Amino acid sequence: MPSWLKDAVFYEIYPQSFKDTNEDGIGDINGIIEKLDYIKDLGCNALWINPCYDSPFKDAGYDVRDYKKVAPRYGSNQDLYRLFGEAHNRGIKVLLDLVPGHTSEEHKWFQESKKAEKNEYSNRYVWTNGAFQGIGGHPYIGGEADRDGCYMLNFFKCQPALNYGFLNRTEDWQLPPDHPDCIATREALKDIMRFWLDHGCDGFRVDMADSLVKEDDENKSATGAVWKNIREMMDKDYPEAALVSEWSNPYQSLKSGFHCDFYLDHHGNGYNTLIRDNETPGGDHSFLKKDGHGDIFRFLDDYLPKYDNTKDDGYISFFTCNHDTPRARRTLGYDELKIAYAMFLTLPGVPFIYYGDEIGMRYLEIPTKEGGFARTGSRTPMQWDHSKNMGFSEAPEDILYLPLDPAADAPTVDDQASDENSLYNEVKRLIALRHQYTDLQADGSFEVIFAEKEAFPFVYKRGSLIVAINPSDQEARVSLPESASALFQIGDISLNGKELTMKPQSFVVCK
Ligand code: GLC
Ligand code: CA
Repeated sequence: MPSWLKDAVFYEIYPQSFKDTNEDGIGDINGIIEKLDYIKDLGCNALWINPCYDSPFKDAGYDVRDYKKVAPRYGSNQDLYRLFGEAHNRGIKVLLDLVPGHTSEEHKWFQESKKAEKNEYSNRYVWTNGAFQGIGGHPYIGGEADRDGCYMLNFFKCQPALNYGFLNRTEDWQLPPDHPDCIATREALKDIMRFWLDHGCDGFRVDMADSLVKEDDENKSATGAVWKNIREMMDKDYPEAALVSEWSNPYQSLKSGFHCDFYLDHHGNGYNTLIRDNETPGGDHSFLKKDGHGDIFRFLDDYLPKYDNTKDDGYISFFTCNHDTPRARRTLGYDELKIAYAMFLTLPGVPFIYYGDEIGMRYLEIPTKEGGFARTGSRTPMQWDHSKNMGFSEAPEDILYLPLDPAADAPTVDDQASDENSLYNEVKRLIALRHQYTDLQADGSFEVIFAEKEAFPFVYKRGSLIVAINPSDQEARVSLPESASALFQIGDISLNGKELTMKPQSFVVCK
């Protein structure tokens, strides 16, 4: 386990939209370098950058054409190596995004694989033996290549599935996971990882990490075996590098070698019920929405078994949002966001903040861009200040990658930095608090002290600290197990010995 993860607070950067330095309207690596001091000042000590590799951008870069080359729109490999160095000079780690399940249809492996003549890459992707043959229940394409076969897709049409084999085989074109050609796919992935790790990257966020071996068993043991093999390489040669999975099943991911696994926003899961329970009929019952009349057990019943059963294997990662998820500001106001982030930043595991969430950027209803569809509205340019294009770019406004928030009150870093009561300054104080108290960090113990159905507050213990949250619009009271005094608070609370009274929308950490 890389020791730095214990106190890591990540910042996710969607590179298209962070900072443009060459006036083409698209964010770039040099822009990230320019803003490293900002990230450090916020208190984040680690970055995850969405794919920045050469790509036709039919899925915003998750369709990789060349894993070892930075996309020209973002700069050069040299720029990225410089980013690693500049980040390290500031004590910031950098995770790249690794896309192991598929490539772009324009990747040179696929160009070879689709040829009629057999070659080294024929089995790099999943193909049937005939152009008229479907692929079980999986999406596939037939009739597009000279090769007489259909190929499997892993996501969009542009993303053919790489071949890590099939566990339960029913057809002769399905190779076993230990077939030399499937092992070759895994080794090619390791080669890509080594390339970036050797150049100074600190690990990877792994895209669709559960999608490798097909017809896997319900425990995903064959896919897990691939990751265990990769983790062996990491432990041996890169023990301080981190692996974070997009999997959202810590039993599987953390036991297969991942250090952290995201708690993704899946309708009805514990995370979803905290801030995005707005698809259930009957209104928004998110626990952290002030008038949601939420129920903390919808979170705890899902989270606690996951946490209890995996806490010795790795970390569950809470996030404010990501590039696939609607920004929380869509349904929550600034005061609600303060309480929500306070909770995410005082739970165990390794937290992630999505760029712009520290100022409460909005989700915009805008047309799709590069395969974003509904996700596009969460990917708009960072709002730095009130200069041209809100400080994102000097380019003409009509060539910006995506439009800026047109609202008169669109939040900016500049405005919020000078306002002590802003969301930005609250986030900054919360991150500083987490860095100050090891009990609040990834490894600190977690124990629920007070949770009652449809009642507030929610109180938990982290090590020797007590955290109490009243997200509701009603006053709430509770008796703590022992006398305590407040060391950090949001909103109004009063604490007399053990008796804690919390005004609406308040949060406190006591000792
Ligand atoms: C992951 C990414 C998403 C991408 C998909 C296919 O879910 O987060 O943005 O479109 O995988 O690579
Ligand atoms: Ca640019």
